[in-house]
Amino acid sequence: MTDLHDGLPPLNPTSPPPPRLPRGFVFGAATSAYQIEGGANADGKSDSIWDVFCRLPGAVAGGDSGEVACDHYHRLDDDLATMSALGLDAYRFSIAWPRVMPDGRTLNPNGLDFYERLVDGLLEREIDPWPTLYHWDLPQTLQDEGGWADRGIVERFSDYAAAVDDRLGDRIHRYTTFNEPWVAAFLGHAAGVHAPGHQNPSEAIAAGHHMLLAHGTAVARLRARATAPELGITLNLSVIDPLTPVDEPAARLIDGQMNRFFLDPLFNGAYPEDVREALSPWWPDGLVRAGDLDLISARLDFFGANYYRGEVVSFTPPDADDTIRPATDRPPATPYPASRGIHFHTVLPERTALGWVVQPEGLERLLRRLSDDYTARRGTPIYVTENGAAYHDGVVAGRVHDAARVRFIDAHLRAVAAAVDGGVDVRGYFYWSLLDNFEWDWGYGQRFGIVHVDYETQKRTIKDSGLHYARVIAEHRAT
Ligand code: FCB
Repeated sequence: MTDLHDGLPPLNPTSPPPPRLPRGFVFGAATSAYQIEGGANADGKSDSIWDVFCRLPGAVAGGDSGEVACDHYHRLDDDLATMSALGLDAYRFSIAWPRVMPDGRTLNPNGLDFYERLVDGLLEREIDPWPTLYHWDLPQTLQDEGGWADRGIVERFSDYAAAVDDRLGDRIHRYTTFNEPWVAAFLGHAAGVHAPGHQNPSEAIAAGHHMLLAHGTAVARLRARATAPELGITLNLSVIDPLTPVDEPAARLIDGQMNRFFLDPLFNGAYPEDVREALSPWWPDGLVRAGDLDLISARLDFFGANYYRGEVVSFTPPDADDTIRPATDRPPATPYPASRGIHFHTVLPERTALGWVVQPEGLERLLRRLSDDYTARRGTPIYVTENGAAYHDGVVAGRVHDAARVRFIDAHLRAVAAAVDGGVDVRGYFYWSLLDNFEWDWGYGQRFGIVHVDYETQKRTIKDSGLHYARVIAEHRAT
């Protein structure tokens, strides 16, 4: 696999050349622990809330779980070799809290051994490690104590962050605290389609605030250490457009509950007034205490934005509601507590296998808005920490011809380049995902990887999109 670059196919002649991005721009790929590792009980690991959620009948499509996943835990060297063959500058992965602290509190050194091997393997191959401390796999023991809805979790998280840094801080120079707190809080506690599967808007709001507070508390703690790592957070963000001008307030309401609920406390030190107002029926009394917002709005060294698609909303129902397609047979609730009378539309014609619209211009708009409204003022650089598409890929004679994904990547890289040309400080792009993997409530049916995984044999096959991405990276490096 090391001669991959020699065997690269020509760039897709029908697609325009890859965009020019600044020197030093970071090209990476992303994964998360529960989605790829497997090794569910290996070396002392305990159940996370996702292990438990997957056992609920009907919770995950096909009854799938991350118990084996891509068996990355036992195939680390092969996967490192694949990353190296692709020429990645950086690898964004997450650390499983229940591996490191099976009961949520007590250190399990064996669990950290794995991440030490991963980090050392990356550094040997000159791939920059980009670890995330929380990508949704809370130890079940902490859920049993109230999980994210309970304020006590904040200290637990900061102890866990410090324990990781004790062991790896001499080699890891940067941490992302949380991945997509909106998903973990609102899909997990209001919609109930993610672990822990609750449908309680007040819990969702409390979980969101406690994740932000855990972020801020861990930032303060890690920043004070001799290792002095760079610290950031990743949010899932979208562009929310009104179907017609009359629907502008609907768009603002959804934008508030998805984007500004997290952006405003982080960058402005306050929850937005209109969001507080809209969520007031569910907002827990005494949730936000003196000093919380100072911690939450502490300086960030970088900001991570995950972008997949835009949303179009209106006060009138769509002709055919094809946007809500539950993965499972559990009845979902809305993740937006204040959304009565608001409808979601699919307007653009091009969709991925999940039915998500392909909307690269939304990424350029999002990056400009982030810069204008939040990051530029504070001089915070932005990284696109996730962007990708699921397609129904199959291996044919040793190849995976995923031309749609090649176009998807190029179009989104062009959107990033346009934002950079417009003055936005974007310093990197991570494709989601390195490997096909366990796509949460959708199970294994949705393949996002630039590397195909045969779940029967665990054989990896670099898709055409992976070969293409490797070539984009190599050419960027050469110029
Ligand atoms: C993001 C998640 C990631 C993956 C992609 C498709 O919301 O961060 O784990 O599921 O979506």
